[in-house]
Amino acid sequence: MLKKQCNASELQIERAKFKPVLPEVLKNGLNGMTIVKGKSTKSIADQEKVKELFKNTYGLPTVTFKKGKNKTFKNKAIKVAVVLSGGQAPGGHNVIAGLFDGLKKINKKNTLIGYLGGPSGILNNKYQEITEDVLRDYRNTGGFDYIQSGRTKIETSEQFCSTKDNLAICNVDALVVVGGDDSNTNAAMIAEYIKEQGIDKYVIGIPKTIDGDLKNKYIETSFGFDTATKIYSELVGNICRDANSARKYWHFVRLMGRSASHITLEVGFKTQPNIVLIGEEILAKNMTLSKVVDGIVDVIVKRSKAGKDFGITLVPEGVIEFIPEIKELISALNDILSDNKDEFSNLDSMEDKKEFVCKKLSEKLSALMLELPVGIASQVMSERDPHGNVAVSLIETEKLLIEMVRKKLSELKRDGQYTGKFSSITHFFGYEGRCGMPSNFDANYTYALGYNAAMLVLSGFTGYMSYIKHLTKPTKNWECGGLPLTMMMNIEKRSGKEKPVIQKALVDLKGRPFKEFTKNRDKWTIGENYLFPGPIQYFGPKDITEMTTKTLQYEQIKK
Ligand code: FBP
Repeated sequence: MLKKQCNASELQIERAKFKPVLPEVLKNGLNGMTIVKGKSTKSIADQEKVKELFKNTYGLPTVTFKKGKNKTFKNKAIKVAVVLSGGQAPGGHNVIAGLFDGLKKINKKNTLIGYLGGPSGILNNKYQEITEDVLRDYRNTGGFDYIQSGRTKIETSEQFCSTKDNLAICNVDALVVVGGDDSNTNAAMIAEYIKEQGIDKYVIGIPKTIDGDLKNKYIETSFGFDTATKIYSELVGNICRDANSARKYWHFVRLMGRSASHITLEVGFKTQPNIVLIGEEILAKNMTLSKVVDGIVDVIVKRSKAGKDFGITLVPEGVIEFIPEIKELISALNDILSDNKDEFSNLDSMEDKKEFVCKKLSEKLSALMLELPVGIASQVMSERDPHGNVAVSLIETEKLLIEMVRKKLSELKRDGQYTGKFSSITHFFGYEGRCGMPSNFDANYTYALGYNAAMLVLSGFTGYMSYIKHLTKPTKNWECGGLPLTMMMNIEKRSGKEKPVIQKALVDLKGRPFKEFTKNRDKWTIGENYLFPGPIQYFGPKDITEMTTKTLQYEQIKK
């Protein structure tokens, strides 16, 4: 029962009663399971370099929990700390709840603290004990507001040292990092540092990101992707219906997803709009910005000839980094901004900044920079996050596309090849979906990820990510275990330097989801095959309440 009922909506009150279903193997805690270790693992690429950087945590075996009797487990009370890192994703509170319940199930004296405001909470030693009294209000809710999140990166030797010292000051035995690829890379580095120091403390990661790009054979999806895409799909479906009713606007909808286009592809499946851009395809086909615009214009003209001056285009926010010439520009800017941080930040006006970078760019890139609309030029120069990423959520790519589409259409009009009317409306859906009330899938998945992480730390594993597999099967049949973090790594250039990082999983152009999309998309361009998925359903027929993503369904078919 919710503690502060007067402050809760009717749905919150009902939702608080939801009891996540645990996979069968976790139900009896460590006493009811055996640990099966796989073979020693290798990093996904650059094995020698990664091995050299992770001397103590490289090559660990995969770990699978199976039902059975655990003979080696010593039930000594431990203290665990959890930190939420990076962008919000629906289900974060249930990770904390699963972790808390898992620890308490094994020993009532186990305790959990939450570092406040993300990794900076570890460095500043700001934390709060997690108690049932407070946690009760957060179970099955969206958001990260119980302990908040942040994007601080722990990277200097002083920061690693204070992480180690602060964990010791709080008597923390294990740290659970809930994050995306960058945050889990950080978790791997903390695990390595602590092990190198000969200290017995454990670090476990949890795969979080609405972007859906932290995945592999074991991590079938990151948490939050299911709920966020359901929320965006409801909104896009509503826009499709509005467009089809009014028949006078072209809607350009930019969707979140820093690099990969998984979100856009999933929303595309769920709503079937007229145009769906996929960044990875644009990169593979080496399409220039002008070619991308030509493709959009082609559909607009065809629809116009059929008397339809309306439609919907989905634009993944990460597409900007996949258009070859812009990718090259952003990469060159990354190096310039990181090598000239102080000088650049002392420049006041946008004109001065533009002039500064143009002098350092090649002739070709400088010309491109000067061609970009003022707003976009300033957005591509915006400050990088601590992991070296450009803030694509602030780049209004949909407006850039509309401006270029309008220009091409007026040229066609002048030549008598287009007689229609182009009125556009822009939308950006990102923050709307990141803190939504988790779907049943995400509520169960996150709870299991947290509970499983408790079993991993209690078994003394470090440098692992909590994994839950077979996600399209009923929850009770999900497989649980640990995946070595170094196994997902490769070497990439960040802020101008080579760094070990967990590799992002982009849309696989040979994979089943993309193939399904290409089979169907032509039908969507001219017709009005729109689907209206409506809001997330928490109660009702199982086909609707337990539905996973189309992406996951297609991916699992091939197995
Ligand atoms: P994570 O990878 O940290 O989960 O964040 C993903 C994301 O939501 C992206 O889709 C988006 O580009 C970015 O965060 C926005 O970041 P911020 O919250 O700092 O504006």
